[in-house]
Amino acid sequence: MLIFNKKADLTTFLSDYKNKRSTIGFVPTMGALHKGHLSLLEKSVSENDITVISIFVNPTQFNNPEDLEKYPRTLEADAEKVKTVSDKILIFAPSVDEMYEGNIVSGHFSFDGLENQMEGAHRPGHFDGVGTIVKKLFEIVTPDNAYFGEKDFQQLQIVKKMVEKEAMPINIIGCPISREPNGLAMSSRNQRLSDEDKEKAAFIYKILQEAKQLFGNNSIEDVKKHIYDAFEARPEFKMDYFEITAEDDLIPANIKENKAYRGFIAVFLSNVRLIDNISLN
Ligand code: PAJ
Repeated sequence: MLIFNKKADLTTFLSDYKNKRSTIGFVPTMGALHKGHLSLLEKSVSENDITVISIFVNPTQFNNPEDLEKYPRTLEADAEKVKTVSDKILIFAPSVDEMYEGNIVSGHFSFDGLENQMEGAHRPGHFDGVGTIVKKLFEIVTPDNAYFGEKDFQQLQIVKKMVEKEAMPINIIGCPISREPNGLAMSSRNQRLSDEDKEKAAFIYKILQEAKQLFGNNSIEDVKKHIYDAFEARPEFKMDYFEITAEDDLIPANIKENKAYRGFIAVFLSNVRLIDNISLN
């Protein structure tokens, strides 16, 4: 298992693969790895000659300093997990200085409006931070294929848009959401929940499944009302938003058209912000 901390060492190592025209798969993460991350790694390993996983807690995408500070950092345990997947994986774990060279700021990106909805509206600057780091990482790793989870569906769409707008020769591959047996979407932030909260949080997926059932025969407004009412009765949750949007534009929808729709939720439980989403049709 090779762990690289320096950009130059990784690119030198990868240049052999480039010369041999081997395919490079890439899974960007912020670490505290769980089975959701590992499912992305497994897919990349099965589709590429070599896979790079980056583990880097990116300061510019956190709009909340406490969230950045409390984000779990568990590199040794992460490396052990990566080992269990395959020996054809390289870890890239740079320092903040290595990535930002003393200038910890985001660039400004336009993703044709995708960045203004939901997570973008509720976490100012978040997608500029994501765009900044993903672009930097893509330039270092130069992958053929990069794997992103539908858990962060808006991020997945934004990265697809970035690659399209900047004409980067990279396939962006979306991967399904991995869940705990009780339905809770796996997330590094779940480590901050007590066992009791993890059981309570199963309600989030339960209610998303209800939204999916209701979506067929009810108006969007009625489905949204059902969800908001259900959370009113569960004061342990603080609702950030629930939206129904078409998958392509992510703009809150009022009327159903002949498109693929998703329900998106963000809630706080014990001060931990949890997001999830579901395909509705
Ligand atoms: P992070 O939250 O660590 O997630 C890394 C990747 O794992 C993302 O593509 C995310 O969607 C995916 N993922 C997380 N939980 C998942 C789950 N339960 N099932 C399937 N996939 C899941 O997303 C980020 O890091 C960062 O924003 C990053 C892209 C690395 C840029 O800093």
